[in-house]
Amino acid sequence: MAKPAQSISESSLQIDHIYQGDCLEILRGLPDASVDLVFADPPYNLQLQNMLLRPNNSRVDAVDDHWDQFADFAAYDAFTRAWLGECRRVLKDSGALWVIGSYHNIFRVGAILQDLGYWILNDVIWEKVNPMPNFKGVRFTNAHETLIWAKKSQAQKRYTFNYHAMKALNDGKQMRSDWEIPLCTGKERLTANGEKLHPTQKPEALLYRVILASTNPGDVILDPFFGTGTTGAVAKRLGRHYTGIERETAYIEAAGARIAAVEAAAADDLAVLGAVPNKRAAKRTPFPSLLENGLLLPGAALYFDRDPERMAIVLADGSLRLADGASGSIHGLGRHLSGEAAVNGWLRWWYVGEDGKMQVIDGLRERMRVQADETMVSGVSGKTLLDLAGSIPADDLERMEKAIEDLKREGWRD
Ligand SMILES: C[S@@+](CC[C@H](N)C(=O)[O-])C[C@H]1O[C@@H](n2cnc3c(N)ncnc32)[C@H](O)[C@@H]1O
Repeated sequence: MAKPAQSISESSLQIDHIYQGDCLEILRGLPDASVDLVFADPPYNLQLQNMLLRPNNSRVDAVDDHWDQFADFAAYDAFTRAWLGECRRVLKDSGALWVIGSYHNIFRVGAILQDLGYWILNDVIWEKVNPMPNFKGVRFTNAHETLIWAKKSQAQKRYTFNYHAMKALNDGKQMRSDWEIPLCTGKERLTANGEKLHPTQKPEALLYRVILASTNPGDVILDPFFGTGTTGAVAKRLGRHYTGIERETAYIEAAGARIAAVEAAAADDLAVLGAVPNKRAAKRTPFPSLLENGLLLPGAALYFDRDPERMAIVLADGSLRLADGASGSIHGLGRHLSGEAAVNGWLRWWYVGEDGKMQVIDGLRERMRVQADETMVSGVSGKTLLDLAGSIPADDLERMEKAIEDLKREGWRD
């Protein structure tokens, strides 16, 4: 499951996969606008100076691992700026990011993400119902962590929020921004030789809420600090995809085994997986509309799971044809090739982009939706017809006037 950093193809995003290596190096090789959500649980930079002891002098299992250590705040800030910037590039224009942290780092992270252009949607308090006490009794019990939920920019019109699913999860009352969830303990906590395998394994209940709230079934969630793979386990359980990045072999191995043991959600009715019918979902994008809109040309070659041996040609009606003559839809031919009972062809077929690199066709669908939404949004948000015609050079007045007339004929109003 893990793959070494040096063999990553610069062009592609592997889903349901853990990349091994430094997250910055790997993020830089991932394609633009390719994931729906980022969930990040970065180093806390605890800066622990001394070993923590309980009153009985036993050692507290604190986060003193090398991955949490930075020379100073400036080094931590530079690292944070770099990975947050890369995540913003890798997120789709409809995407969003969650970051979790404690008082040690979350304020720095919050300021940096705002400086980078992200726009905060909420901060959420994870209230730990069973926190570790403050053994010395010199401070309050530190009983919470903070999650920041942000979209890519203030101007971003669309992001996923499954309001009704959250309300249902909260007994029919609007979900609040303070979540009472226990620490990860008991059977859920991964161990090795009787010790915690990882010092900061997050509870699955926390990820369940994040993923259900802010993704749809089939979405791809990137976790650049994958640890024991909590994000991947919950993503799989909820019919979503994950891409993880982690440096430590022991964590990668444990995460791989953990995710493999999770029963993948399989549901014909997407509502079972928390998909809420909304106007946008209702506007389904059939594959042939990519041809109608010029985003793919008849005769284009698509590759199933990027495999050159499983190449199909796109026909003008939107069906695909294999070299042996078998044909069908992106989903049907995908089932035929893989033998799987259900295949989401949008995530399995790849094409060669203008830059010569492989891209998954879901990116084309996303591009079409964004274009369509931008047109809709400009129609309802008080933009003038002049704005709508804005792509025409300003000095070409004749063309501008004609474009405005055309728009009026189509029903747009100033
Ligand atoms: C706070 S933990 C994440 C725990 C995870 N959410 C879980 O539930 O298991 C941060 C993880 O990031 C990894 N890490 C830290 N710096 C990294 C880097 N530069 N590149 C890749 N992984 C890194 C650490 O090994 C650690 O497992």
